[in-house]
Amino acid sequence: TTICFLEQYVIAILRESYMPRKKVALRSSQWFNTPELYSWLRGVGFNAQGFSESDYKDKPIIGICNSWSELTHCNSHLRQIAEAVKRGVWQAGGFPLEFPVMSLGEYNMKPTSMLYRNLMSMDVEESIVANPLDGVVLLGGCDKTTPALLMGAASADIPAILVTGGPQLKGNWRGEELGSCTDCRRYHTELRAGNITMDQWADVLGSIVRSPGHCMVMGTASTMAAMGEALGIALPGNAAIPAVDSRRPQLAEWAGRQIIDCVRKDLRPSKILTLKAFRNAIRTLHAIGGSTNAIIHLIAIAGRVGIELSPEIFDDLSRTTPFLLNLKPSGEFLMEDFFYAGGIPALLKEISSLLELDTATITGQTLGYQLKNIKNYNNDLIKTMQEPLQKEGGLAVLYGNLAPNGALIKPSAASPNLLTHRGRAVVFENHEDMEQEIDANDLDVNPEDILVMRNSGPIGGPGMPEWGFLPLPKKLLSKGIRDMVRLSDARMSGTAFGTVVVHITPESAAGGPLGVVRTGDIIQLDVPNRRLDLMISDNELTKRRAEFSALPKHYERGYGWMYSNHILQANKGCDFDFLVHNTLV
Ligand code: FES
Repeated sequence: TTICFLEQYVIAILRESYMPRKKVALRSSQWFNTPELYSWLRGVGFNAQGFSESDYKDKPIIGICNSWSELTHCNSHLRQIAEAVKRGVWQAGGFPLEFPVMSLGEYNMKPTSMLYRNLMSMDVEESIVANPLDGVVLLGGCDKTTPALLMGAASADIPAILVTGGPQLKGNWRGEELGSCTDCRRYHTELRAGNITMDQWADVLGSIVRSPGHCMVMGTASTMAAMGEALGIALPGNAAIPAVDSRRPQLAEWAGRQIIDCVRKDLRPSKILTLKAFRNAIRTLHAIGGSTNAIIHLIAIAGRVGIELSPEIFDDLSRTTPFLLNLKPSGEFLMEDFFYAGGIPALLKEISSLLELDTATITGQTLGYQLKNIKNYNNDLIKTMQEPLQKEGGLAVLYGNLAPNGALIKPSAASPNLLTHRGRAVVFENHEDMEQEIDANDLDVNPEDILVMRNSGPIGGPGMPEWGFLPLPKKLLSKGIRDMVRLSDARMSGTAFGTVVVHITPESAAGGPLGVVRTGDIIQLDVPNRRLDLMISDNELTKRRAEFSALPKHYERGYGWMYSNHILQANKGCDFDFLVHNTLV
């Protein structure tokens, strides 16, 4: 299928780029037009790198904020993407300078990359603020890199465009299309159940991640790239173009040209990231059945521009937004197919009657204008409003005496028969205990029980690791059981699936009621009525909570100490209390 949506925007923007340029006061002039010695030395520094004065004199200076790292395989191609951005900046009359920021790779970082999202956001913010930059192009991809870039850029508040690295190519094993890492998890379960051999498992792993780029299901990375488009801070089409498709560097080049236009128009994040834009993003999140992690990240990004998003907004919009996207882990297809179907613009077009179409975007056009000529090229993949996959959105917020400040479930990726379920709790004190006990032959567990794990939240984990997708006990796997209700204060990878309740807030380490659940207690999950309750009396719950004492914090020094003392709970986006916008403090 030939896609034309990208090209039509390129033509519109090129026309604009060649219009006579308006003179604007550049932020960078504060670094150069002063009598101090360093005003000259800064130019000398550019000359020392081989640039001549005509390269930079009186031009907008555009930072290319790059989370490239060989420790983050999803972002390992971002140096090439940066070169394409530079071409665009030069074409439009700017001066591009690439700089590195911390990179967060899901596979390598222990205990979890989430522990460092806020640190990376500080690196982004301070690198922008401290340097003579008029605008910035943000290069990210792997799960936490995109929200960290957006949080930092929102706080710095100079014109910014997000360019993500794009999804990997589709995996394929013996003719079966595979998605990372939804199918890694599925086949790992089959390995534990004894249904595939180690050789077959090695073959699966060798067939599933075939190229640079981020996971190519609707996991957190794809979801956050989609959020960038829905918010209007990424170019239309950005989210779904495969990492190695030639249209990815073409889009990056366009971003280089477009950021100059944003500087001229003073289009800052605070003008793009409005409440209306966040409502559009939340509707998009529900329509795509996006990652539960996106709720934490959107709350945190909004908090940086003074907008308070409560979990209730997510649930309210979920009730009136249909789930349309037939993509793993909730459906059948992969991101490459989504690109051929028209990507996020085609999805937005389908739900356009629910969107605020007058929101500003970094193209200088409204969202509604951008969607004018967009088409959906595959109705099996992007369903219509008339024939959705589900009438309601892909995420639900639960409340109850077990989750006074909320918990999350992804009904689109759960077993429908377990969405209303009452069962006996089987409690694990923490992740380590769970790993030691889950496969024990004498573990007292039945398929209708509810697996509960605590001490896995923002403080308890620490860093709220993606441990919520608890493995099923081997003794039940061998009986053919493939899903059970699982509860925790952890997060769940966006690539995971099952009847998994996560983000139980407050977490057990902060004194939440999850800390006092005992094996044998009865728990009631009622997703249609958005309830999660521990079936004990109020008196008993109060008594247990009064006797409860949380485990000591993990760190006594360094970044971990700062983290433990300033991290907010999941319903506040897990940002640091001192980083949220001062109007929300
Ligand atoms: Fe980077 Fe999945 S490991 S996006």
